[in-house]
Amino acid sequence: MENIVDTNHLIHDKAFKCLIKKLKGEEIKKCIDAGSGKTSASILLKYFPTASVDAVIYPGDNRKKNPLENAIGSDRLEVIEVDLTKSCVRKNYDFCLVLLTLGEAQNFGNSFENLFHRIMDIKARWFVIYDIWEDPCVHYRYIEQYLKEKGFKIITKKKFRNPHPEHYPKVKFDKYKLEFDSKHYMGYLIKNLNIN
Ligand SMILES: C[S@@+](CC[C@H](N)C(=O)[O-])C[C@H]1O[C@@H](n2cnc3c(N)ncnc32)[C@H](O)[C@@H]1O
Repeated sequence: MENIVDTNHLIHDKAFKCLIKKLKGEEIKKCIDAGSGKTSASILLKYFPTASVDAVIYPGDNRKKNPLENAIGSDRLEVIEVDLTKSCVRKNYDFCLVLLTLGEAQNFGNSFENLFHRIMDIKARWFVIYDIWEDPCVHYRYIEQYLKEKGFKIITKKKFRNPHPEHYPKVKFDKYKLEFDSKHYMGYLIKNLNIN
């Protein structure tokens, strides 16, 4: 019997459902959760009920490792501790989820650009990128320009209102500490045209 976290009430769940609408008919068997946690892993296990999920976290990130191992019970889930900016992911995937990962790049000493580039190097046919619209660490214009130049097509782009905004008081941005409120999320469904 599989045990996943109930995400039905979360805006991330509703947003994900909306973003993957245009995937209808696509066979999704192998997923990678690039920057995992119990929410994103559970969303993948729920919406792709026959797929395996590789849940990648930064080595030693026990904030995420413990809930992933304790709150979810599924043979389809594997937790993998690897720094995505240092090692290349060799496996091929049907789908890559990047949910609230890019804003955390600097927490582990990486630049937004480097983490984003390495994630987009993952050999996945489809990507969903989803992050806080107001987060100064996530450069949305850069994301869109990069995708256009590197053979990716944005199939769906949608902004979602966060019904429960949170205040982030001290977010590291280069040498500054900035604050913001998470009033919206921005999501993209992306097709990788470099892979058939
Ligand atoms: C805010 S959490 C993401 C939350 C998660 N998607 C969820 O729904 O619960 C950011 C995630 O990105 C991971 N991460 C950040 N930088 C990373 C890196 N360089 N390599 C691998 N994982 C990284 C962290 O370990 C963490 O799992």
